[in-house]
Amino acid sequence: MRQVPIQLCRSLRTCSQAPNPSPSTLTATSTTFPSTIPQLEAGHLSSSQDRTHVSQVHGFLHGQGILKVNLKFADNQCHYLRQLIQSLHQHHDHGLPINHSASRGWFWDVRPLQSTNTSTAAAESETPHRARSETMKTFPWHTDCSYETSPPRFFALHVLHPDQCGGGTLSVLEVDRLLSRLSSSSQLALSAPEYRIQVPPEFIKSDKQLSIIGPILSTRTRPELRFREDIFTPLTARAKTAVENLNSLLLGPHIQTEVVHLNSELLPQHSIILLDNRRWLHARSDVKDPNRHLRRVRWDARPFN
Ligand SMILES: [Fe+2]
Repeated sequence: MRQVPIQLCRSLRTCSQAPNPSPSTLTATSTTFPSTIPQLEAGHLSSSQDRTHVSQVHGFLHGQGILKVNLKFADNQCHYLRQLIQSLHQHHDHGLPINHSASRGWFWDVRPLQSTNTSTAAAESETPHRARSETMKTFPWHTDCSYETSPPRFFALHVLHPDQCGGGTLSVLEVDRLLSRLSSSSQLALSAPEYRIQVPPEFIKSDKQLSIIGPILSTRTRPELRFREDIFTPLTARAKTAVENLNSLLLGPHIQTEVVHLNSELLPQHSIILLDNRRWLHARSDVKDPNRHLRRVRWDARPFN
């Protein structure tokens, strides 16, 4: 019997299994890009080496800590982003990207892992320690690489194929706005090195480094956060109370006015979102389009505190 190419099977997977929800069931249906997030256009690949353009990118990342770039050209190999980070390194002292793994290099494909039998559920059972970015699951509020002693300061997501079934919305929340609603005693406790932070199984590099001890909040320069609730264990009573207060704030209704939801209409194909990984928390709703595909790069790793 003739084998059907896997790529063909993928293309047959449509939104029919996960119909678009009605607008009333979505929390993020805005089609107007929020004015609080700056945007730049990149008309050509050479923009990534244009000193004015690169300075603007650096300025927005240093200032607001967030930026959307709209590419006016197709760039499936992410040449713009690769060159942009090299230019930021050359002219603005950004550290170069971290390798996601020894075999994957600077860029990581964020898309549901496909199984050879075309069942995403089967794929998830085949590899229980897959990175969350390779599943269709919701990501609660977090910062990337929160288990590293030197987490990356920045990351970017280049949209190659947006979720066309109403899922995969990226939500972002500025740390300053979160902290303004948190008591000073909780902030003080979050700043103490009284948390055990476990390395997720899929990211263990050495049996000697299964966890680190440190704070959640750094106030050495300006407030910076690292957070991923499921891997943080408080080691003292005050640390426990503080992280509970942080969690209830994140899950409660009052913070919702500060959250920006970036759905596929706001982050379409050929757009790139760049974030300060310590001054913005991010989350993702469940992916509904098995063909959703972003490419991620993280750079400028520095000690957290
Ligand atoms: Fe993330």
